[in-house]
Amino acid sequence: MAIVDSLHEIGKEFYLLRSEEPEFHRNIYFKRFIGPDGSQVNMIMDPGTKLDLSRVIAAANHLFGGLQNLDIIFVSHQDPDLTSNLDAILTAAPKALLLASIDSWRLIRMYGLPDNRFKAIEDFRTDTLKIRKTGHLIKFVPAYYCHFRGAMMVYDFESRVLFTGDFMGGTDTRKGPGVYATEESWPGIAMFHSIYMPTNSVVRSTIDRIGMLDPFPEVIAPQHGDVIKGDLVYDFLGRLMELDVGLDLMEKEKPEKETLVIAVNEFLDKLKASNAPVYKVLLARLREPGKFTTPFYVAADVVVDVKVDVNDALRFLWDSIDEKIQDVSTQRMVKKLLLSTLKQYDIKLPFKVDITLEEETPPEADKNIFLDSFS
Ligand SMILES: [Fe+2]
Ligand SMILES: [Fe+2]
Repeated sequence: MAIVDSLHEIGKEFYLLRSEEPEFHRNIYFKRFIGPDGSQVNMIMDPGTKLDLSRVIAAANHLFGGLQNLDIIFVSHQDPDLTSNLDAILTAAPKALLLASIDSWRLIRMYGLPDNRFKAIEDFRTDTLKIRKTGHLIKFVPAYYCHFRGAMMVYDFESRVLFTGDFMGGTDTRKGPGVYATEESWPGIAMFHSIYMPTNSVVRSTIDRIGMLDPFPEVIAPQHGDVIKGDLVYDFLGRLMELDVGLDLMEKEKPEKETLVIAVNEFLDKLKASNAPVYKVLLARLREPGKFTTPFYVAADVVVDVKVDVNDALRFLWDSIDEKIQDVSTQRMVKKLLLSTLKQYDIKLPFKVDITLEEETPPEADKNIFLDSFS
């Protein structure tokens, strides 16, 4: 497709170039600041990967006569899906200055990027920046921990487009052509945030910072998924305020500590009755420290406490069976015993396992219990 047909002007002089994957694509944005005297400053945001390089070059040729005329490279954070062609772009654009947070720079400089081409956003005197040549204003807005400590967004006052990096991004649940979000885009946004954002509290504080922008953005331009505009901006921000993500979901899905202690003791009792030597080996393992701490606290042959996150304790117990029991059929027997005991207490392992309780349950139910655990 000709590059001119791939560029979408989503706000005044604000252009989207979208990579062509149908599932989880990258959005690269360009902004042309054009002053009253015809002077021009050109910016690219999250320039993508080596896979995007030829299209970025073509877009730069079309929009401002080539990368040699690029002035500003803004990157929202350090991930390779948006930074891994920076070395090539900096070489092709000798005038361009790279802008990012200092936290992002600490990592992206490892591509071998030259220090003298970088300016930390924190080093500007104010978070609103005037483009001297053209008179335009842009504002840097932190998106702390969404999904990286030093994540940054940038607001273009002229177009009222807020480029948000991964924040407000989504997988492609809306089918069909076009670049703007519809209701169909929401499941992809919710899924993406559930996976990548650490907690609802950091999502909320980023939304609060967006809410303080004056004037409020008309368009949200994320690095993945659809461009959001109109009422959907308020609508989706409102839904994100209420969405459980990352740790919130993990906390919800894990069993209570007390239940796990009861279940593990019952498992050990059954194991003692069926195979005393293996029971002894495993109990000894539970008394030993893990890498940083002792996950289980055992007193008088009884587990009395779980000292780590319950999901980590379950993983430690499962791994202990692998490590301490050499005989494969015994190992399977012990794993099945553990699984059946956990099942009684409705405890699911927080990871996928290669063993099922086929004797006790029909195959279909098996699949549901074990292969879908924690998905
Ligand atoms: Fe990312
Ligand atoms: Fe990303």
